[in-house]
Amino acid sequence: MAVALKGLTDNARKTSISELNARLADSIALALAVKQAHWNVKGRNFIAVHELFDALHNNLRADIDIFAERVQQLDGVAVGTAEKVAQGSTLKEYPTDLTKAEDHIRALCERYRDHGEKLRAAIDATDEAGDADTVDIFTAASRSVDKDLWFMESHLE
Ligand SMILES: [Fe+2]
Repeated sequence: MAVALKGLTDNARKTSISELNARLADSIALALAVKQAHWNVKGRNFIAVHELFDALHNNLRADIDIFAERVQQLDGVAVGTAEKVAQGSTLKEYPTDLTKAEDHIRALCERYRDHGEKLRAAIDATDEAGDADTVDIFTAASRSVDKDLWFMESHLE
């Protein structure tokens, strides 16, 4: 058993574990949706969006690892199995019948916007609980999600 981090209340620790696991499930679901788009997109701008989706996937993968490892540092259990993610994700189910780049981008933008909103709520919740380090993690993640949302939206003009 890990030695508890000093200077964190039990409430801060528990709040962070719960917020991190909730956003972990959404990030894993979103990362899979991005791969679904990466594999199935077709059309004249194929290579640009195919590669864009892989860049977005890499950014989400980095968040996923940081969320899960922070849970471990807080002496929690990171929950990232397919079964638990399917139960725990709060994002709208990603369709499997899309092929047009614009349709994939619109579907992903909708979910990125939702994810960004929930990351900002997690910043507030962990800030209120008093875990500045987890606040920092969620702040970095939301900044990355906002930037990737902007990248995708710029393809729609
Ligand atoms: Fe690939």
